[in-house]
Amino acid sequence: MDLRAGRFDGQMTDDAAQFSSSIEFDKRIFKSDIKCNRAHTTMLIEEGIIPKESGKKILKALDKLEKEGIGALNLDPSFEDIHMALEDYVTKEIGDEAGFMHTAKSRNDQVCTDIRLTLKEEIENTISNIKSFIKTIVEMAKENTHTLFIAYTHLQHAQPTTFAHHLMAYANELRRDCERLIDTYKRVDMNPLGSAALTTTGFPINRERTTELLGFSKVMDNSIDGVSSRDFAAETIFDYAMLSTTLGKISDEIVIWSSYEFRMVECSNQYSSTSSIMPQKKNPDIAELSRGKSTIAYGELMTVLSMIKGIPHSYNRDLQEVTPHLWNAIDNTNDILRIVHGMLSTLTINKDRTEELAGANFATATELADVMVREKNLPFRTAHRIVGRVVSEAIDDNITTHDIDNDYVNRVSVEVMGKPINLGEDLVKQALNPLRNVKSRTVIGGCAPEAVNDAIEKMEIFLNE
Ligand code: ARG
Repeated sequence: MDLRAGRFDGQMTDDAAQFSSSIEFDKRIFKSDIKCNRAHTTMLIEEGIIPKESGKKILKALDKLEKEGIGALNLDPSFEDIHMALEDYVTKEIGDEAGFMHTAKSRNDQVCTDIRLTLKEEIENTISNIKSFIKTIVEMAKENTHTLFIAYTHLQHAQPTTFAHHLMAYANELRRDCERLIDTYKRVDMNPLGSAALTTTGFPINRERTTELLGFSKVMDNSIDGVSSRDFAAETIFDYAMLSTTLGKISDEIVIWSSYEFRMVECSNQYSSTSSIMPQKKNPDIAELSRGKSTIAYGELMTVLSMIKGIPHSYNRDLQEVTPHLWNAIDNTNDILRIVHGMLSTLTINKDRTEELAGANFATATELADVMVREKNLPFRTAHRIVGRVVSEAIDDNITTHDIDNDYVNRVSVEVMGKPINLGEDLVKQALNPLRNVKSRTVIGGCAPEAVNDAIEKMEIFLNE
């Protein structure tokens, strides 16, 4: 079967054939291409467009190919793409009648149909893997609703929280990553088949029927749009890029938290490396690599956006180049997802250390100011000034949070507002206690164990949807 035989009197150079062939990354759409041909042929038979007997032979050859697998195809780059290799297979099986298969069909609508079919499976798979990661996180959170932890802004000690509260931030980010894919799926789940080259066909094809046979939710309403749009690919890559960002951020925190200076967590040995020269080293290489690899999808997104920006309607061969970048973004992100899931679930948390940090370095100062507002009706700004001064004097006096008492606060409040605030020893100590801090934040989204439990409940509802 030689596609060029009509129009040309010779072949491309080997180099040009190799350069233009998509066979290598078309392997990914092999199964979808069989489905697509099967649905199209079935419809052609049903509508009486091709001889029934020829159609049946084509379907039989497609079944045989499906059983034999991709190894049965001749994947010579001179075939340009998998569609030609597949037609070549059917031709070898049944002879010239195979030629009926391409009635009212073009590789232009065929390829984007295949990509959409394959992509639907990819997205479903990733959604289920994200959900399983969220499940793991939720289980970890349940075990750690009372595990004190320090939260940062500007990577400086900010306020005490719990490990569960921080974990549930991951869960909520991942939930949005998941929901983004669920939304994108709607636009992937549309059938371009029947657009043919670009203006459909004069044959009375039944596009509703192929839509049904292929399991698409909708048929695409414009054939030029059908063959030329790849916004669904760009959008999908964005979703994976965003998911990569979430995963990269988790990895970044694992790198920081596991350093000697932080010592908040320890990576399992299975996710750590050592140094070829420094025998003492335990390095979080896997976390670093997932942080580094998380940028790959961004590059793919820029590549694809640039490709689809620079071309007119409708099909242009440039579009062929979009596909490998789509798969690469997906594969890389899936790798990171799997690895970060494994790494986080085997992380050990150093509870003594996180408790120590939660109470250290005046992380409870906000609560002390809040107590002044609540108990003594002080404007928050005045309270903020008093506590700010308490902290700066404590640093000058070289004392820690634990050394601050009622007298100390009173002395500073006299300096700031001319009279003692008189909170009393109990209120001062309670305000500066990290666990009390955490327990007081019971509002929606807060770090109090009951607030985190509510958030966990909401997440479980999402997971069971
Ligand atoms: N390999 C092509 C692609 O991936 C399939 C469509 C080719 N169409 C064409 N007119 N050469 O986009």
